[in-house]
Amino acid sequence: MPYASRSDELVFFVNGRKVIERNVDPEGTLLTFLRKNLRLTGTKYACGRGGCGACTVMVSKHDSVSKKIRHFSVAACLMPICSLYGAAVTTVEGVGSIKTRLHPVQERIAKSHGTQCGFCTPGMVMSMYTLLRNHPQPSEEQLMEALGGNLCRCTGYRPICESGRTFCLEANSCQQKGKGKCCLDWGEHDSSPLGKKNEICTKLFAKEEFQPLDPTQELIFPPELLRMAENPEKQTLTFCGERVTWISPGTLKDLLELKAKHPEAPLILGNTSLGPGMKSQGHFHPVLLSPARISELSMVTKTSDGLTIGAGCSLAQMQAILAERISELPEEKTQTYRALLKHLRILAGQQIRNMASLGGHVMSRHCYSDLNPILAVGNSTLNLISAEGTRQIPLNEHFLAGLASADVEPEEILESVHIPHSQKWEFVSAFRQAQCQQNALPHVNAGMRVLFKGGTDSIEDLHIAYGGVGTATISAHRFCQQLLGRRWNELMLDEACKLLLDEVSLPGSARGGRVEFKRTLVVSFLFKFYLEVLQELKKLVKLFSASGCSCDGRYSEISEGFLSALEDFPVAIPQGVQTYQSVDPHQPLQDPVGRPIMHLSGLKHATGEAIFCDDIPMVDKELFMALVTSNRAHAKIISIDVSKALEIPGVVDVITAEDIPGTNGTEGDKLLAVDEVICVGQIICAVVAETDVQAKRATEKIKITYEDLEPVIFTIKDAIKHNSFLCPKKKLEQGNIEEAFEKVDQIIEEVHVGGQEHFYMETQRVLVIPKTEDKELDIYVSTQDLAHVQVSVLCFKHPHQQDHLSCKTSGWRFWREDRKASCIRGDCGCGTGHPIRLVLDREDDMLITGGRHPLFGKYKVGFMNNGRIKALDIECFINGGCTLDDSELVTEFLILKLENAYKIHHLRFQGRACMTNLPSNTAFRGFGFPQGALVTESCITAVAAKCGLPPEKIREKNMYKTVDKTIYNQAFNPETLIRCWNECLDKSSFHSRRMQAEEFNKKNYWKKKGIAIIPMKFSVGFAATSYHQAAALVHIYTDGSVLVTHGGSELGQGIHTKMLQVASRELKIPMSYIHICETGTATVPNTIATAASIGADVNGRAVQNACQILLKRLEPIIKKHPEGTWEDWIEAAFEQRISLSATGYFRGYKAFMDWEKGVGDPFPYYVYGAACSEVEIDCLTGAHKKIRTDIIMDACCSLNPAIDIGQIEGSFIQGMGLYTTEELQYSPEGVLYSRSPDEYKIPIITDVPEEFNVSLLPSSHTPLTIYSSKGLGESGMFLGSSVFFAIADAVATVRRERGIAEDFTVQSPATPEWVRMACADRFTDMIPRDDPKTFKPWSIPIA
Ligand SMILES: Cc1cc2nc3c(=O)[nH]c(=O)nc-3n(C[C@H](O)[C@H](O)[C@H](O)COP(=O)(O)OP(=O)(O)OC[C@H]3O[C@@H](n4cnc5c(N)ncnc54)[C@H](O)[C@@H]3O)c2cc1C
Ligand code: FES
Ligand code: FES
Repeated sequence: MPYASRSDELVFFVNGRKVIERNVDPEGTLLTFLRKNLRLTGTKYACGRGGCGACTVMVSKHDSVSKKIRHFSVAACLMPICSLYGAAVTTVEGVGSIKTRLHPVQERIAKSHGTQCGFCTPGMVMSMYTLLRNHPQPSEEQLMEALGGNLCRCTGYRPICESGRTFCLEANSCQQKGKGKCCLDWGEHDSSPLGKKNEICTKLFAKEEFQPLDPTQELIFPPELLRMAENPEKQTLTFCGERVTWISPGTLKDLLELKAKHPEAPLILGNTSLGPGMKSQGHFHPVLLSPARISELSMVTKTSDGLTIGAGCSLAQMQAILAERISELPEEKTQTYRALLKHLRILAGQQIRNMASLGGHVMSRHCYSDLNPILAVGNSTLNLISAEGTRQIPLNEHFLAGLASADVEPEEILESVHIPHSQKWEFVSAFRQAQCQQNALPHVNAGMRVLFKGGTDSIEDLHIAYGGVGTATISAHRFCQQLLGRRWNELMLDEACKLLLDEVSLPGSARGGRVEFKRTLVVSFLFKFYLEVLQELKKLVKLFSASGCSCDGRYSEISEGFLSALEDFPVAIPQGVQTYQSVDPHQPLQDPVGRPIMHLSGLKHATGEAIFCDDIPMVDKELFMALVTSNRAHAKIISIDVSKALEIPGVVDVITAEDIPGTNGTEGDKLLAVDEVICVGQIICAVVAETDVQAKRATEKIKITYEDLEPVIFTIKDAIKHNSFLCPKKKLEQGNIEEAFEKVDQIIEEVHVGGQEHFYMETQRVLVIPKTEDKELDIYVSTQDLAHVQVSVLCFKHPHQQDHLSCKTSGWRFWREDRKASCIRGDCGCGTGHPIRLVLDREDDMLITGGRHPLFGKYKVGFMNNGRIKALDIECFINGGCTLDDSELVTEFLILKLENAYKIHHLRFQGRACMTNLPSNTAFRGFGFPQGALVTESCITAVAAKCGLPPEKIREKNMYKTVDKTIYNQAFNPETLIRCWNECLDKSSFHSRRMQAEEFNKKNYWKKKGIAIIPMKFSVGFAATSYHQAAALVHIYTDGSVLVTHGGSELGQGIHTKMLQVASRELKIPMSYIHICETGTATVPNTIATAASIGADVNGRAVQNACQILLKRLEPIIKKHPEGTWEDWIEAAFEQRISLSATGYFRGYKAFMDWEKGVGDPFPYYVYGAACSEVEIDCLTGAHKKIRTDIIMDACCSLNPAIDIGQIEGSFIQGMGLYTTEELQYSPEGVLYSRSPDEYKIPIITDVPEEFNVSLLPSSHTPLTIYSSKGLGESGMFLGSSVFFAIADAVATVRRERGIAEDFTVQSPATPEWVRMACADRFTDMIPRDDPKTFKPWSIPIA
């Protein structure tokens, strides 16, 4: 029931235009308002939880306290629309446009090649734009901070960072960055490590062409809003929606009265805690109180004993206030402020810090809160206010635990937080460890404070609080009491650890899992604090020598080596060089092939003008669909009751399997479940309603009753036990493996590789528009396999119905299963006669669709003690999930690619796809190779350890060296593989850096460096001839313009750009004459999937063929009038009735594989490469820093070096994510926990190696492909494993040094948890271990 019948007008500005909304719905967000009401679709939806930055816009507000205009970036998906009263919003459309004027930020991100699929680009633009509004010449640190909340799944961030850096003060024009000699300064006779000067280029864009930033050109803050802010109305504003009322009082008094009247109503500030709760956990608040207009809540008071910060201040404002105070006060007074600032810098992304308030943060009392433990140990006080008056309560463990005696009353609000200064002899520190360094919720965090009796090391007061180890922030109160009066030495530390573990206990089944890791962190943090304080004490008065107090512990004696425990890894700005071969100096200027041409859609991405599937305007009578999925892993469906759902206003229909007119998928892979469900997340039915909100709400009303069935299988181990497989075993064999094993040493080991979520930024979405008159469907879908979707839709509908599929600008799919969703929508289009739109939420997308197969590998390797491998037997099992999907193909590719770059005479590779009750896993960039080759490389590393030789020696010794045949008998020449390897060793200065790392490791006990170099032989293409074909259609119009259509889908990989480059070269006209037509089955039928890295290759040949046909037709005219222009020739051709339209076709490579015999010629060609990575690990926390990566890739003659380098960088970073941070967590009931960017961490900008160099191998050619280029879409993925092996190298050093067995089970990803627990020490030894039989774990490993 609405609270009031009268709703006020919501007044705000968007892109300089006034918006007056008379019937605003308080449940709406700025994102939906922009996209639906204002049709500003540049701002994207990708997660809806503030975690990805795709929806970033700039909000400008007049600050009533400072009297200044504040510009700040926000996540529009969490911004309640009602909170914008009096604000000005700037979206990407307001920044610039192709049609009017491009903003330098937009121009630079596009021209620096910072866009691929472009889905993240508007958000990136807005983060940078906001930064520049506040700092026209920002520092590099500010740039990184501004972009820390924006995810990109395609580019690998380097080019985005590069574009932003062009605005920075420190920016260096040369990308070589002073390391060695700049390429532009090379002399005549100089040669670079890769070749002669005139062959090498390191410039991917021309910075000098960029338009300068002119801050005077920006939109001003609307004068009307300024007037409103300067004379604020004090009356209460009320916005009434259907279910929720938003009340925004103008005075504190009114707010307190309202709070007394509605004690249950939450105060809504940033909505970063309330919002996700309402969206995902079904929390509902009929009244929301907004204190945004109450200036008292934003006051900051500096007193002689501390700082009082208004509860309404944002975390970003708090950051600035603390920084200011730290600069004003002596260090001893600012200990708590420094600790808070340390966490504030890495807590969430900039957008969230701009929105989230201190009050909201404190009052949310999240167990993971990064600030509450510090505020608690810092003796902070909460200033509460209500209509009754004011009072103070301590921000302590009782408050944080929500104890009634220490809590805020429902009528009270938090006015401010008082944080006292620290004092002399007092030390405060903060610690946190998350899956990655920044923008990730912490696994464990802590605030620690100690006060010494003046001039001594005797503990007078001690306070330690932890987050992440319970349901609330907890204080180790008993522990602290017991240590009072003790001296700060090792004796105290030992006892302290034991006491702490007794008090801070964590059950084996604790929520969030990672129990042993968390227990270890509890004591590791204490140890860090111990060392930190020891250092500070020493610094302060040279206590231990001067005052007679001696430290009798060994820590002070070996402090040099221990000092490294104190340093946190700083955030560094990635830099590096991208090197490629320049085009032949005689190549005509107009010929774009081989040049770093900008992505064709780059500018459209940057301005938000690129139209993605869900950006297509609403069509007449359009309906929305939402899916209902199974919450059981294996069960019989007893009944489906849809009656309550149908009662919801606006609901049109609920579609179940019975309503499908055609075939409901295949027998083994039903589109909608019939009678039985076989995994959590399986689609059972779909609701169709007038709005997406109605459809979503109705799904919650559908009651499904189940009867659980046996068996329920989730893990590979269980699948093997139950003999549960999806397809027959695949096997390849060479030599005589049994005999070979008899004569050599052996190692038998296991490797576990976790799966990977595609996490494409644009979730699955489709629009189906039925054309009733012809029984046709127009289907707009983001896919990389149009024809496949079309065939699936055909099965699903009445036979002989016609579909026209169009591939809208599509977020990278990374090879995804997108048929299902499209098919269901296809049917609804027919059934209801209405157009249907479906946009999957991130949570649903991650739940329903499977990802990369988790793998369990067992190997037995036989070797000589000089490292020569004689025999290798690998058996791999992949977790295929509940249906076959592409699992058989993935198994085949996995087995075919398993040998990677090595010649081993006696081999046996076997692979099987396990059937489990998990969502069906599917194809993903690299198709099994990234998982399988990790087993092979792990085996090499293990041999190296056994032989006491460096792994690179074993790699070198066993690598293919001469023309040879693979295990499946395909001949190839590994010459460029060896060249890549040698170049990589040389360019990375591998050997000298290995020595330096060893030196570092000798000196540092708690930090270790690791370095690894990995070779790669990656097969391109499908193992079937029919997949190597393509068609294109080229039209020339009478004005001379050319339209090219081809069968490849543009996913961001730049295929359209490359196709125009091909057409331009063939027709000998500038690219500006040529246009691309959206890929569609109406123009080019029977397309093959754009995958296996071969898309540009085969489609390029088809475009070439069409252009050559046309040019042949034009030849007589050109010959007759060689001096004529293109336009003249086309006009003449038309006059002469010469057809100006041609279909090109490429009848591609022959490829086959005979699995019976184990021989074939499955791949057209190979891509070779090598990567060297160096990392540093923190043995106490498991964190790592990527110091440097060098990649050499054999692209032969790249069609477009900017695009190809982008593919290498992007896939490398994606691979790095697979092997280090991306961890899928499943409950023992088979429910995927990791369903949002909070829980599943793909790399962010600060994860990019500090130095990141990519070189394309020069002087490499292949006669096989178009213009001798190679497909590079997938290969870089595996090179990300160089980071994994560098981490493993560092861990092995730790274990060697500590005398622990070096051969430990290899497990990917190498998360902080894995690293920390592998670096066993006295702290891992002291934690309690649970008997696995005594508890039910929170999550289960499925690989
Ligand atoms: C993507 C993302 C990443 C994050 N990462 C981190 C992280 O790494 N570390 C971390 O610690 N936190 C993290 N957070 C949590 C974030 O810090 C909190 O959500 C935020 O501080 C809450 O502030 P808010 O203003 O948005 O609160 P709101 O959502 O507006 O309100 C939250 C609650 O506080 C109450 N409240 C607010 N103000 C008052 C007041 N003055 N008096 C009484 N009650 C009040 C409200 O009634 C409500 O119940 C993250 C959040 C997001 C969305
Ligand atoms: S969609 Fe808003 S942050 Fe992801
Ligand atoms: S370009 Fe960043 S997500 Fe695709």
